[in-house]
Amino acid sequence: MAILPILRYPHEVLAVDSEPVREITPDIERLVRDMIETMHAAPGVGLAANQVGVALQVAVVDLSAGEKPGETLVLINPRVIEYSGGYLEDEGCLSLPGFTERVSRPERTVIEAMDLEGKRRVLEGRELMARAFNHEIDHLHGRLFIEHLSPLKRRLIKRKVQKRMRAGDWDLAPA
Ligand code: NI
Repeated sequence: MAILPILRYPHEVLAVDSEPVREITPDIERLVRDMIETMHAAPGVGLAANQVGVALQVAVVDLSAGEKPGETLVLINPRVIEYSGGYLEDEGCLSLPGFTERVSRPERTVIEAMDLEGKRRVLEGRELMARAFNHEIDHLHGRLFIEHLSPLKRRLIKRKVQKRMRAGDWDLAPA
């Protein structure tokens, strides 16, 4: 297993619409293991494959951030099949460390995804889990949470990141 570098905004792979996984190969299994280790080490509650440079529809979610064994979900080719409600809550992203903003998301989201055994599963998430599902599925289609903010707020974050890049304090691909 390996802890992988988490790419940061505005790395171009974060804007890529990722390809679906056709088959669970040993490479996919290794990728998922590395992503789980990377997410837990961060620590974070979710990670999408393009955040570690692989433009495939693979994401992992663990609301316990590694505290409770067995809580980690592997989402392969996930898609939203149903959602309802809405609520505002602070949201952040491992690709934008240090930035959190209030983002409106559905209160309840039902997704369909394949697990690592290749079985199709239907998962229902509420509140934080629904937020994580939507956040990660967004990643797989090249969208970051800042795209849900007002253009003004988004510009402000972009400017802060550019400033930190110029100061050498923001690496798109940290070691
Ligand atoms: Ni994220």
